[in-house]
Amino acid sequence: MLNNKTILITGGTGSFGNYFTDYVLKNYKPKKIIIYSRDEYKQFIMANRLKKYEKILRFFIGDVRDKARLARALNGVDYVIHAAAMKQVPACEYNPIEAVKTNINGAMNVIDAVLDSPTVKRVVALSTDKSVNPINLYGGTKLVSDKLFIAANSYVGDRELNFSVVRYGNVAGSRGSVIPFFQEIINSGKKELPITDFRMTRFWINLEQGVQLVIKALQEAKGGETFISKIPSFKITDLAKAMLPECSMIEVGIREGEKLHEVMVTKEDSLTTYEYEKHYIIYPHFNWWNKEYIIEGGKKVDSGFEYNSGNNKEWLSVDQLVKNIRGLK
Ligand SMILES: NC(=O)c1ccc[n+]([C@@H]2O[C@H](COP(=O)([O-])OP(=O)(O)OC[C@H]3O[C@@H](n4cnc5c(N)ncnc54)[C@H](OP(=O)(O)O)[C@@H]3O)[C@@H](O)[C@H]2O)c1
Repeated sequence: MLNNKTILITGGTGSFGNYFTDYVLKNYKPKKIIIYSRDEYKQFIMANRLKKYEKILRFFIGDVRDKARLARALNGVDYVIHAAAMKQVPACEYNPIEAVKTNINGAMNVIDAVLDSPTVKRVVALSTDKSVNPINLYGGTKLVSDKLFIAANSYVGDRELNFSVVRYGNVAGSRGSVIPFFQEIINSGKKELPITDFRMTRFWINLEQGVQLVIKALQEAKGGETFISKIPSFKITDLAKAMLPECSMIEVGIREGEKLHEVMVTKEDSLTTYEYEKHYIIYPHFNWWNKEYIIEGGKKVDSGFEYNSGNNKEWLSVDQLVKNIRGLK
């Protein structure tokens, strides 16, 4: 489906964008991949790393706050992946207007520019567990972004174009996440690991799973879906044991803006959620574009169902965590 297609990734130099680009270049024959982001240095590094694909890759300097620039970049584009975001919780709290400009106004600009483009057929926007019942501004802005992308289907008319959302949680080993945090303490020779709350759980997802779900959304979406991977959970205390078996743990208390469990599907969402073999789909609560459909192969979840890292059926043991950590780059 991606062969001979032109794909634009906003935030293409980020962790997701780099991995997605590598994956598509390895597994498909795209016509062009356009990386859209602000920092020329990150683009320079990426362009050098992927020099042998220079005929396929294009590097556009641009901000998602700049609709005219987005419109220019979308010339001839078939598929758009919207990954650009401000995503550090404290940075969004301290600079709320900047978070609104990038995460909300940026989403609006992407939607408007796509609606004005005659060629774009699919848009997939990346969401996060933080946008579910948000307790911080990062989550709040991403909730608005999710809603904007879903409602954008109302403006499509008869065109072959749809907008969908892919939601996942913190990527294992990503910058600022718990694995590098513990690793730094271990490297300094300390044996005591701080645990915010002994009950805390998280989902385990790697970038490949995130990328594969985005490609699934590109292939299957009809418009308005939120795609969520079924992935295993782990206890933070088990992660500490996996990283340093002889460690002692100290409970330091939950931090502001942090949840005990990552939530992907809420009880309220259960009314429109379907379970598939490897993922869930939340269908829109409101559907103004009169295209009622349910993708085949799913089963409606029970009313009151919730999918969070604490009530998951699938769990990683300490031994499995040891193997998974070894597999991280
Ligand atoms: N990483 C995770 O664990 C995780 C989990 C769940 C969901 N997500 C979501 O996945 C998406 C991608 O995350 P990531 O981990 O790849 O983030 P990342 O590594 O921080 O990359 C962010 C990208 O966005 C670009 N960007 C930031 N502001 C921009 C703007 N105003 N205009 C244009 N480009 C801009 C950055 O490049 P420049 O700074 O050069 O512009 C960079 O390419 C985000 O939407 C995030 O909310 C991430």
